Amino acid sequence: VWESAVIETTSLRSRAEQVLLGNRLEHSTKPSPSLYPHQWMWDSCFIAVGYSTFDGALARSEIRSLLRGQWSNGMVPQIIFNPASSGYFPGPDRWQSGRSPYAPENVQTSGITQPPLLAIAARAVIEREPDAGIARSFAAEVFPAITRYHEFLYRERDPDDSGLVTVVHPWESGLDNSPPYLDAGSRVELSYKPEYHRLDTAHVAARNRPTDKDYDLFIWLLEQMRDAEYDWSRYLPEAQLQVQDVLFNSVLCRANDDLAWIARYLEESDATARSWRDKTAAAIINSLRDEESGLFFSRDRRTGELLRQVTISSLMPLFAVQLEDGISQPPVDALADPALFDASGYRCPTTAISSSWFNPQNYWLGPVWINTNWMLRQGLLAHGCANQADAVRRDSLELVEKSGFREYFDPITGEGYGTDSFSWSAALTLDLLSVA
Ligand code: SER
Repeated sequence: VWESAVIETTSLRSRAEQVLLGNRLEHSTKPSPSLYPHQWMWDSCFIAVGYSTFDGALARSEIRSLLRGQWSNGMVPQIIFNPASSGYFPGPDRWQSGRSPYAPENVQTSGITQPPLLAIAARAVIEREPDAGIARSFAAEVFPAITRYHEFLYRERDPDDSGLVTVVHPWESGLDNSPPYLDAGSRVELSYKPEYHRLDTAHVAARNRPTDKDYDLFIWLLEQMRDAEYDWSRYLPEAQLQVQDVLFNSVLCRANDDLAWIARYLEESDATARSWRDKTAAAIINSLRDEESGLFFSRDRRTGELLRQVTISSLMPLFAVQLEDGISQPPVDALADPALFDASGYRCPTTAISSSWFNPQNYWLGPVWINTNWMLRQGLLAHGCANQADAVRRDSLELVEKSGFREYFDPITGEGYGTDSFSWSAALTLDLLSVA
């Protein structure tokens, strides 16, 4: 048994490496062969973590390619378009990022950002690099750029100086059709029906993807931001969708901790990164925690109300920062609750089972994703929950072994959905195999 387990692991590892290498473009790695044919920000951060287990040069090039698309105001965009790829909507012609004076001239990008994992990925790449000279020069290269990115988030997206960054588009949250966005989205009044032709449903069955109504919202919001030239001081006061997102801010909090680590590694001051981390951590606990359930929720900045749908984001402060025992317990308990996240199948559904939105086969409405499991595992480990962390790791590996490197998985049956050869499923499998 032991021997066959070793052989399976070796084969899983080599299949995962092949997925990443097969999805390589000139400068970076696309998330999947055809559904997502460009470079995406948080995908590439996970991909860099995966590469760091077997090829440091590719890991560094993934992050460098992201920074190639950085705007002069510091924003690192959600998508960097590959001029040689087609078949994805919305492409550069719809985004027209050149309307902003801050967009880069020679690289086409979208006009929003994504969960800010850059510092987390960069630290992993630096720590895994055996050559100290290479590690140090890479750290020195990326540190100022990532610092400027965090400065952008606090300067342009936290107008109240609350410590919480405001997300302006479901795509920016990374969890496009997660219930809090369907809820906040239902209050957005579209002034017209946008015209477009979806291409995603040519690659993946429509029943596994966001609805046409969701896409109307996505595209209408895009066009509003475009009309404001992606100028956030102009756009935000009127913006109909504004969410202080708990997953986004949890990632930012942890990224600040890793940015502080990179500063110390370079023997520079870590004071700014630490003060950002502390401020965001306090705001997550004081402003995004629901007293009654002890779970965390994003806040609708327009209504001032918490968006009380229980989703995987409700647990993500475990990944953000060290929480006191009383604060970490409810999210840990929720994992074992059959009404919430214990589907008697595979950990961990992305929307609570009892939610009226729960759908085990549709995108972020229920399926297990390997990236949220990867963050959750780290959060559980940091809070002394080794058994639960190991169970999340084991379920993740079982899912990819059973169903392949699919985009997402049914939490009850383990069936895979969405695109196949999905880069972050492969990349994070490599990382999970390396931490055994
Ligand atoms: N997740 C989006 C899509 O499905 C892009 O960020 O196209």
